[in-house]
Amino acid sequence: MKGGLKEWMADIAANCDAALSPDLSLREAVSLAAAKAAGPDISQAHDYALATGGKRIRPCLVHAAAVAVDPAARAATPPATALELIHTYSLIHDDLPAMDDDDLRRGKPTLHKAFDEATAILVGDGLQARAFELITDAPELSAEQKVRMIKVLAEAAGFDGMVGGQYVDIQSTGKALGLDELKAMHAMKTGALIRASVALGGIAAGATEAQLAALDTFADHIGLAFQVVDDILDVEGTTQSLGKTGGKDAEADKATYVKLLGLDGARAEAERLLDAALVALDGFGGSADMLRELARYIVSRES
Ligand code: IPE
Ligand code: IPE
Ligand code: MG
Ligand code: MG
Ligand code: MG
Repeated sequence: MKGGLKEWMADIAANCDAALSPDLSLREAVSLAAAKAAGPDISQAHDYALATGGKRIRPCLVHAAAVAVDPAARAATPPATALELIHTYSLIHDDLPAMDDDDLRRGKPTLHKAFDEATAILVGDGLQARAFELITDAPELSAEQKVRMIKVLAEAAGFDGMVGGQYVDIQSTGKALGLDELKAMHAMKTGALIRASVALGGIAAGATEAQLAALDTFADHIGLAFQVVDDILDVEGTTQSLGKTGGKDAEADKATYVKLLGLDGARAEAERLLDAALVALDGFGGSADMLRELARYIVSRES
């Protein structure tokens, strides 16, 4: 592996940011309305939502999975960007008053605070649609790759994935969940998009079914670990270090790994999941080192 994880992640983030802006078609579409109304418009809200500040972990996972399969893989940027769009939309809606009611995200006021609720809902909806458009528009992908990616991403984002998990999260607030229920909820609300990230990277690089299966076992474990660590950071992190308000889960009485297992138990579970994720990559050689580094980062990160 040339260079460190930090430099590599910064490169992927820059690549993702370049693919996300400028959004000319949106600007053209709203320019007439904006000219008539002197206030902020949806293109400004769109840019605000996608401005840097997020860790861009999902795009990094897409690229790292692609490189694990084929070190010369070049077709991962459209799915990487699509994943970041779906993830950003999920955060915008997660922060809405009807959901987690958060004021701070990525170190800035949440979208509904900086603009208004209707704008936040619509920007989220638009980002989701744009994600699929990006994949369909990608000249570097074959028709088969596109259809497969769209199916994987739609399933991961929908009722059997992120949306379903978010619904369970809201319904479970204030209730005591058992470990199996909690695991299922986390696997859906956060794990599903992490699994999709790794799967789309593999598909972009032309992975075999056996490689996709191994990558999926890796992603299943690291996706769950991601949310376990998010639960830990909500307790251990500060509002400043997280860029989002700390202590919100306890305040809202959310079902979390820390609530069920305590901090030490949650930390031990994250480590166990990391080990299991790494074992799943045993069949890959050095080309999977970036994926291994990202997995360790996901569990040891401080924000
Ligand atoms: C936070 O995700 C929400 C969860 C799914 C746990 P990230 O920690 O990846 O948030 P950003 O993209 O870096 O802001
Ligand atoms: C959010 O989980 C998962 C999503 C699908 C967005 P959280 O509600 O714990 O995420 P944060 O802590 O607000 O980022
Ligand atoms: Mg939430
Ligand atoms: Mg939240
Ligand atoms: Mg959280």
